[in-house]
Amino acid sequence: MSNRRKDSVSSLERLEQIQYIDNLKNRIFKKGLKYHIVTYGCQMNVHDSEKLAGMLHEIGYTQTDDQRQADLILFNTCCVRENAELRVYGNVGALKSFKQANPNLIIGICGCMMQQNDVSEYIKSTFPFVDLIFGTHNLHRFPLLLLQAMDSNQTVIEILDTEGAVVEHVPAKRAKEVSAWVTIMYGCNNFCSYCIVPYVRGRERSRLKDDILSEIHELAGRGYKEVTLLGQNVNSYGKDLNHKYLFHNLLRDINEINGIQRIRFMTSHPKDLSDELIQTMAECDKVCKHLHLPIQAGSNRILHSMNRKYTREDYSGLVGKVKAVIPEIALTTDIIVGFPGETENDFLETLEIVEQVRYDSAFTFLYSPRKGTPAEKRKDQIPQDAKKDRLLRLNDAVNRISLEKNLAYIGRNVEVLVEGVSKNRTDVLTGRTDTNKTVNLKGDSDLIGKIATVEITNAHSWSLEGRVAVPADLL
Ligand code: 5AD
Ligand code: SF4
Repeated sequence: MSNRRKDSVSSLERLEQIQYIDNLKNRIFKKGLKYHIVTYGCQMNVHDSEKLAGMLHEIGYTQTDDQRQADLILFNTCCVRENAELRVYGNVGALKSFKQANPNLIIGICGCMMQQNDVSEYIKSTFPFVDLIFGTHNLHRFPLLLLQAMDSNQTVIEILDTEGAVVEHVPAKRAKEVSAWVTIMYGCNNFCSYCIVPYVRGRERSRLKDDILSEIHELAGRGYKEVTLLGQNVNSYGKDLNHKYLFHNLLRDINEINGIQRIRFMTSHPKDLSDELIQTMAECDKVCKHLHLPIQAGSNRILHSMNRKYTREDYSGLVGKVKAVIPEIALTTDIIVGFPGETENDFLETLEIVEQVRYDSAFTFLYSPRKGTPAEKRKDQIPQDAKKDRLLRLNDAVNRISLEKNLAYIGRNVEVLVEGVSKNRTDVLTGRTDTNKTVNLKGDSDLIGKIATVEITNAHSWSLEGRVAVPADLL
């Protein structure tokens, strides 16, 4: 099978690097070098950074939170919207003085932004102190490229124009201990007219089921309780492999893995939300009752020009079906305002569907023109002020509904998988409900990694507060 052959070739390429790894290890261990990675963008990028970190630990680096202590600073970039790109340029520019203070510092930039035409050349000429630039398709070659950058006084650049095969055996240094990201497929075939992802991440490539299942078995063996399956479009998993083994089959197999207690996934495209998947979500006890189903817009005219391949009626029909089969389902979504040609009436249709679906939460975005996409070439761009005004009105509705839905939790007992200590308050634990609500609670740190029954005592738009009703060890 051609996919299999390509996979083993690329995995071999990764294994071949082991010969360089010893060389690097000797140089890095001796000096006790430290790295700092800055990640922009989505969960796929967050997990890619875990793989970059995994490769760095393999060759002897250790992590530091303090950029000034770092011997290697790596930016893993995103280009989905312009503001992420501007932040990268600002933050890279600010490192010039670091490099002057420490000429041995290595500065690297990788990720989606580097896959765009001319970006690497622009960085090379504007920020000549950058040592290493590489893209998304050759992430597994990072140790080798780093070695080249260490030995060169010029910027090392390696960007591959087309995606290679799926590469296995890249180690990940996971940031969390209870819940793990697992990429199940790469790329996207959908070409929504505003979106740059298919150009920078390539076509859909599913990992082989055995590779995914063995990774999750291994995670369970290491004590992970939850996996979140990642892909730009997870519910088209397997279609490229022609193995007749699709996303719902994968969910059923993961549901059987001992030790894993919760399974999440994102993102799903409405056009690929099959009846089998809805049924599987209802029947598999470990599959969380949460569905992230981006709608993007509520007007059929805009959905058509976005190339989303469904109508608002199709979308409402799907939501009705999901709610009928899984009444407790939490629905979340992505919405863009100010797509070219969007009128006030189109926008009101978006507000209308938000009121109708009553999302638990939504990521809302100002449309950002992306070079090379069909929407960017349109002449009927919406003025920034109008976009911002629509975003404010949309956020008001989204936040009000989120709060109303969260207030309904007060007084209820819910099962929370406790994931760790809260980022903001060290005396507070944090976890999530099956329906993906963040719950902050007071409790002993031995609850971490366990599912506790928690009584909800307070609610905000973005989180709930609670107290332990039944300690995990009494369940
Ligand atoms: N402008 C604004 N938002 C965008 N997204 C993707 N491309 C753009 C763009 N050009 C949003 C979509 C997608 C989410 C990950 O980012 O809502 O679902
Ligand atoms: Fe972009 Fe559309 Fe693919 Fe999502 S489905 S990554 S919005 S092209």
